[in-house]
Amino acid sequence: MRIAVPAETDPAEARVAATPETVKKFAGLGAEVGVEAGAGIKSAIRDADYAAAGATIAPDAASAIAGADVILRVRRPNAAELEGAKRGAAVVAIMDPYGHLDALRDIAATGVAAFGMELMPRITRAQVMDVLSSQANLAGYRAVIDAAEEYGRAMPMMMTAAGTVAAAKLFVMGVGVAGLQAIATARRLGAIVTATDVRPATKEQVESLGAKFVAVEDEEFKQAETAGGYAKEMSAAYQEKQKALTASHIAKQDIVVATALIPGRPAPVLITAAMVQSMRPGSVIVDLAVERGGNCALSKPGEIVATENGVKIVGYLNVASRLAATASALYARNLFAFVDILVDKANKALSIPWDDEIVKATLLTKDGALAHPNFQKAA
Ligand code: NAI
Repeated sequence: MRIAVPAETDPAEARVAATPETVKKFAGLGAEVGVEAGAGIKSAIRDADYAAAGATIAPDAASAIAGADVILRVRRPNAAELEGAKRGAAVVAIMDPYGHLDALRDIAATGVAAFGMELMPRITRAQVMDVLSSQANLAGYRAVIDAAEEYGRAMPMMMTAAGTVAAAKLFVMGVGVAGLQAIATARRLGAIVTATDVRPATKEQVESLGAKFVAVEDEEFKQAETAGGYAKEMSAAYQEKQKALTASHIAKQDIVVATALIPGRPAPVLITAAMVQSMRPGSVIVDLAVERGGNCALSKPGEIVATENGVKIVGYLNVASRLAATASALYARNLFAFVDILVDKANKALSIPWDDEIVKATLLTKDGALAHPNFQKAA
């Protein structure tokens, strides 16, 4: 069995889909790993490190993927990048499938079995393969570090000979995986942390991290979590109440880290232009939801917006890639855990268990066609 690790082709992507650690683990499954030269460099992994772990270094992507049974990527490859791939090879990546049906059809036409790691079901067995969690956790951490960088004041309270420095007040909106790590990071840096969410289960989680929970806790709030553990889109009436509560709170904050998302919907706009206007000069908003439309009405993808009243709104894209070495280490482990279930251990060969619920949930293309129920209708 051969596993290929081509370099990422998007210049904005610093992560890589395998590390020397996972190369060794794949060898333990009986696989030979071919890594494209330079694939790990932006994640601080040299070709020599891969070679020392047992990988072969391929001079280019085409020679890495030729004859490979499994192709590991961070981002969705385009069909041209899969030219020469074996029919039936498993291509595993963050496929970003919604809104990219044509790209999926092109991949299907190459005959590979493409798997979208972000479609991983949130069941206990799949936790170790959950790339959304592993990357969101790091994005939540990095959001607070990015806020600290843009904030022209100290985060913790300091008592110095020259007088006392007040602690920053930091508000986290959306307490999923990223939000929880943002709270923990901000607490470690000494900020006074408050947080909000529409799912009641988050109240206890916020409090257990030493932060204060702020939310409209009405009847709708009590029903706001889906069976899958995600948020529902809230009614217009709830959103108005939520805005009234958060508006007065945001006006008193130094930093807001926004992470609120609703699966399959645009991100809810929780921070209006008027709320930004109400903040003091020097305040910072980090909008982690910017790729999905943004939680702040004024954020712009990939930019730091400086408002007239002196507020900075940070809208970095692909925040996990800003700590590429750590993000790659966790992503590569997620992929190893997934590929592990695609391998027949006795024969040391790729043998995809098509009826496994994890395989069914993540499989996007098979035998030349779209395979996922969410996309077959549109096919
Ligand atoms: P997410 O990235 O979809 O959303 C982030 C947060 O925004 C969520 O907590 C959501 O409730 C919140 N939100 C949505 N609308 C909002 C609004 N109007 N105002 C304030 N907050 C709003 O969520 P994520 O991080 O993917 O986590 C969702 C759930 O899945 C969590 O309960 C998490 O613990 C659970 N989970 C379970 C896993 C497993 O069992 N394998 C793995 C990872 C997460």
